[in-house]
Amino acid sequence: MVKKYPPIHHKVKHMIHGADYNPDQWMRTPEVWDEDMRLMKLAHSNSMSVGIFAWAALEPEEGRFEFGWLDEIMEKLYKNNAYVILATPTGARPAWMSAKYPEVLRVQANRRRNLHGTRHNHCYTSPVYREKTRIINTKLAERYGNHPSLVLWHVSNEYGGECHCELCQEAFRNWLREKYDDDLDKLNHAWWTAFWSHTYTDWSQIESPAPHGEFLVHGHNLDWKRFVTHQTLDFFKHEIATLKEITPDIPVTTNFMGTYPGLDYWKLAPHMDVVSWDSYPMWHSKDNWEVGCSTAFLHDINRSLKGGKPFMLMESTPSATNWQPVAKLKRPGMHVLSSIQAVAHGSDSVQYFQWRKSRGSSEKFHGAVVDHVGNENTRVFRDVADVGKILEKLDDVVGTTVRPEVAVIYDWENRWAIDDAQGPRREKKDYQLTCERHYKAFWKRGIPVDVINMDCDFSRYKLLIAPMLYMVRPGVAERMEKFVESGGTLIVTYWSGIVDENDLCFLRGFPGPLRKVTGIRSEEIDALYDEDYNYAVFDKDNPLKLEKEYKTVELCDLIHAETAKVLATYKEDFYAGRPALTVNEFGKGKCYYIAFRSGDDFLSDFYGRLIEDLDIQRVLDIDLPEGVTVQKRSDGDNDFIFVMNFAGDQRTVDLGDEELTDMIDGGQVKGEITLPAYGLRILKRPVR
Ligand code: GLA
Ligand code: ZN
Repeated sequence: MVKKYPPIHHKVKHMIHGADYNPDQWMRTPEVWDEDMRLMKLAHSNSMSVGIFAWAALEPEEGRFEFGWLDEIMEKLYKNNAYVILATPTGARPAWMSAKYPEVLRVQANRRRNLHGTRHNHCYTSPVYREKTRIINTKLAERYGNHPSLVLWHVSNEYGGECHCELCQEAFRNWLREKYDDDLDKLNHAWWTAFWSHTYTDWSQIESPAPHGEFLVHGHNLDWKRFVTHQTLDFFKHEIATLKEITPDIPVTTNFMGTYPGLDYWKLAPHMDVVSWDSYPMWHSKDNWEVGCSTAFLHDINRSLKGGKPFMLMESTPSATNWQPVAKLKRPGMHVLSSIQAVAHGSDSVQYFQWRKSRGSSEKFHGAVVDHVGNENTRVFRDVADVGKILEKLDDVVGTTVRPEVAVIYDWENRWAIDDAQGPRREKKDYQLTCERHYKAFWKRGIPVDVINMDCDFSRYKLLIAPMLYMVRPGVAERMEKFVESGGTLIVTYWSGIVDENDLCFLRGFPGPLRKVTGIRSEEIDALYDEDYNYAVFDKDNPLKLEKEYKTVELCDLIHAETAKVLATYKEDFYAGRPALTVNEFGKGKCYYIAFRSGDDFLSDFYGRLIEDLDIQRVLDIDLPEGVTVQKRSDGDNDFIFVMNFAGDQRTVDLGDEELTDMIDGGQVKGEITLPAYGLRILKRPVR
């Protein structure tokens, strides 16, 4: 297994620190360009992402290209020793294109074609849009492919949305024909169209889901979502093909949006050289450490998307995020902490949206490195410079990774299916939240976790957690059995093993193909009203040595132990005495089935025991106060340890007797350290 990855591009020797840079907004006052270069140095920035949304500046009229301004910017960045991340401009298109070729404009699910406006408002299928994209991408690659500053292609920007135009309908039908071997009967079976007389008798009758048409056939919805991912990927591949042909040595990325529901990022990731994403948590919106934990979960998805390869934090805000309901400022310390958090989880960059605050339009109040005042004398600018200074000390961390012993499965298709299901609750199905809650038990103890999907290789983990694995695709249960047989520990919960990849319920007993490994059968599931609860009571002498009664809420699965042993039972209601937690010994390993939804208390205690039993390593072998976590990266020789306090007040951490080196001031550290609110330390030790 790789211990240290090569850098994003061989020219990149440092952590990347930069921003979306939109000099095309400042064409009327090009003197700010020189000012930008001066400020970049002061901000300890070494990189700029240029040309995102610059199509109108690059091709002001069809076929007339203006590269003069970009030549000048590239030259200035080169002289400033900056890395350039160059974008393809396809996230938005010039007005002339929409006017001349209306087919490039997106059609909504209600079949109305959009007018020109906003961004991400184009059809990925349209041959015209694809051709215009090919032309502009070719020009950019030919002109700047050999530029000494270019290190990465930033392809488009945050792909997303969907188009329901006739071209897309046709493409959808073709995709279906291929998927179902041109056999309409197969499709009718997969979509269970006999229900409500929805049987299709000709491919031409099939359309995308629509609010005024078909939207209740779950297999149909699922396939449409898969198609949207497929078609977006197809467009992405089209963009990449042009770039790779001309600049085979320049890596490509496109920026993701956390768990954006519209695209299955696992399908896109294999086509990227490096994964990058845009992180906009609502810092300080609740207990801040909870926000820190949810954000950590997202970083870990991005690292896991390429099996542990470092990713990039492509965008984050230096202060406020103006599209959120409340654009709260980051409290002192929070900007450094949130930036370094990304690095702690495997990012080789900290980048912002955007460098210079726009003067007009919808993002003029979005945080930026350089504010409207236009100089370096702001709190935010100083925070950014502080991040830059820290990153300059982290050259050794570039390319390093983490190899967790624990993985949580968070799977897009599973999420789609759960969200679409009517029942067992309409609200608070909370798939993602549930995954995050299981994850939290490890984050709090400073134990690294991978966040994978159900198709990943499980064999590298000791503990595999599959919360609410409602959909089980073919082969997954068999791979889980193998994992447990050979000594792994698997956690399965309520509302698992319900449907197959077409959203068709498994017959002959839930949890379907997971029945063997879990050793249980689920007969029915009780959904509780918000104010209802029950309890899970542990058997005396249970091997987990759990003694408390734990509140069960929202969903209680009513199961029968088949080969599994019962560890806890429900306390009340008509299912008092029925199993609530079971364990099934299977080969050399064990599979636990958690039948109920709980609060954090149970998950924390339960995983606490498993961590001991399985000897899962904490990064530092110490107990952590609330709000503090520890993450690490390693190059095989050294561990780089990030101790981070997400709590809003000071915390003391006892590091114990081990001597560690502070990577920022070079001093030796051991024993008690005090972290101010949002404070952190970056420490180094030889691998044990
Ligand atoms: C996204 C986009 C940026 C900008 C930011 C604002 O991430 O990619 O262009 O709009 O949001 O938060
Ligand atoms: Zn379309």
